[in-house]
Amino acid sequence: MTYTQDELKQHVAKAAVDFIGNELHPDSILGIGTGSTVDLFIDLLAAHKSQFKGAVSSSERTTARLRQHGIEVFELNEVDALLWYIDGADEINPQGEMIKGGGGALTREKIVASVAKNFLCIVDQSKQVPQLGGFPLPVEVLPMARASVTRALQALGGQVVERADFVTDNGGVILDVHGLTIDQPLQLEQHINDIAGVVCCGVFALHKATAALVATQQGVITMS
Ligand code: 5RP
Repeated sequence: MTYTQDELKQHVAKAAVDFIGNELHPDSILGIGTGSTVDLFIDLLAAHKSQFKGAVSSSERTTARLRQHGIEVFELNEVDALLWYIDGADEINPQGEMIKGGGGALTREKIVASVAKNFLCIVDQSKQVPQLGGFPLPVEVLPMARASVTRALQALGGQVVERADFVTDNGGVILDVHGLTIDQPLQLEQHINDIAGVVCCGVFALHKATAALVATQQGVITMS
């Protein structure tokens, strides 16, 4: 029997709840990412809502889903520290560095992840890659800078496609950069961060996964 990608996402969501379940106590506040894998995680986490205090959300989409389940959502500004941030990824390499932002929530995801002590990445095996860059790199920019940032990203060797009919939760636009060779993720992240007008770059190397659960056809494996 071969599991579909949706079934693998379900498997890793269940494994993540088992993993985080051991870490929960009444004062725990979790950082929660965005995406279809995280949606499944939230649905299963809801059964444990009496065991922790609440969550900090990375998007309007996640906030709505958490609230539907009666999980309290805190503003990041109300919270000093998070022990765990849980999120999916579009790609993850063996070092735990990721491309994120396929759902367009990369900026808030990176902010919440930056506050958390640990980043648990939850993915199906299709997201595991030896080197980042097969998935187009999302970059959030301020609307007035879309042309100037496009030129700067083209100078790095990328083909830039503005995401159509999409505005982020922050009022930004997303430029998806195809064809980049990402052999030094940390340096690329820092370089793109320095382009005027960039709000956030979808390389997560400064804030990489400290642990990853990967759903494979043979079962869920842990990378750390
Ligand atoms: C959203 C993200 C998601 O984590 C990423 O796109 C993976 O999503 P999914 O779990 O739906 O495959 O970065 O901005």
